[in-house]
Amino acid sequence: MKRKLIILTDPGQDQAAALLMILGAPQAFEVLGLVATAGNIDLGYTVKNCLKVLELADRADVPVYAGCPQPMTRGLVTAEHVHGPTGLDGPILPEPRATPASAHGVDFIIDTLRQAEPGTVTICSLSPLTNLAMALVKAPDIAARISEIVAMAGAYFEVGNITPSAEFNVYVDPEAARIVLDAGIPTILLPLDVTHQMLSTRSRLNAMRGIGNRCGVATAEMLEFSEAFDLNKYGWDGAPLHGPCVPAFMLEPDIFSGRQINVSVETRGQHTQGMTVADWWGITDLPKNAFWVRHGDADRYYGLLNRCLANLP
Ligand code: RIB
Repeated sequence: MKRKLIILTDPGQDQAAALLMILGAPQAFEVLGLVATAGNIDLGYTVKNCLKVLELADRADVPVYAGCPQPMTRGLVTAEHVHGPTGLDGPILPEPRATPASAHGVDFIIDTLRQAEPGTVTICSLSPLTNLAMALVKAPDIAARISEIVAMAGAYFEVGNITPSAEFNVYVDPEAARIVLDAGIPTILLPLDVTHQMLSTRSRLNAMRGIGNRCGVATAEMLEFSEAFDLNKYGWDGAPLHGPCVPAFMLEPDIFSGRQINVSVETRGQHTQGMTVADWWGITDLPKNAFWVRHGDADRYYGLLNRCLANLP
């Protein structure tokens, strides 16, 4: 049974790889639409970057909806220092033929969930959770209609990346993350704890480029741009590849391991805004509201990603 996906995304080279992975697995996913989030770069660029990735994969048929231009209560924090001034720097990608859909991304989420059979749509979140949280505030009835949320978000054992305590997607909109985690929706989180095990080493990027099609080459070139910041920061032999962990979990969950725990979001801390407090040892009796993925097999992960990319133009 194919998963119907609503994808929340602010590409970002790693998220471009995730989007291509999803499009390279048509036997597993039916993409209902992309909701562009303000995050890595401002909304104008994230809309355009969504369209560019779809054009690269020759999938201009997939609709793109612009979401909110900023987080629910805070100013927008972006990450040009990682992703470049357009948010998707690296190779020159084909200019998109398509234009974004006219509906607002929040309304697309609400209308799609209300029209679909309950429990048939998965929210695939690669970005800050602003638009899903806004949809839940505007239409609380949709919570019961969501099959599950699979999200790249959070950090605990691996600590933060945008601050010492917070992962970027949660840091940008901690109020949104709290609303989503409090909504009682089955949720799987792929935090830095696991994405930091998925390093894009030279041999892995060479294998990706060696696929030989335009999507494999472009993905390798995008990651070779965005890895520079992390290689310098961490001193590892590869950069963490965050976004594709989400589709990889949906495709082959046994690549990963974790446990159902309580995850709370700090929204007031002077030094801990956006921190995800993961009760890994079950110290509290707070509701176990998320499956927290802590480990993954990097070789299986990259092999799966490359097999999906090989299915594309
Ligand atoms: O913290 C990593 C995540 O934040 C990645 O998805 C990156 O694209 C940024 O959105």
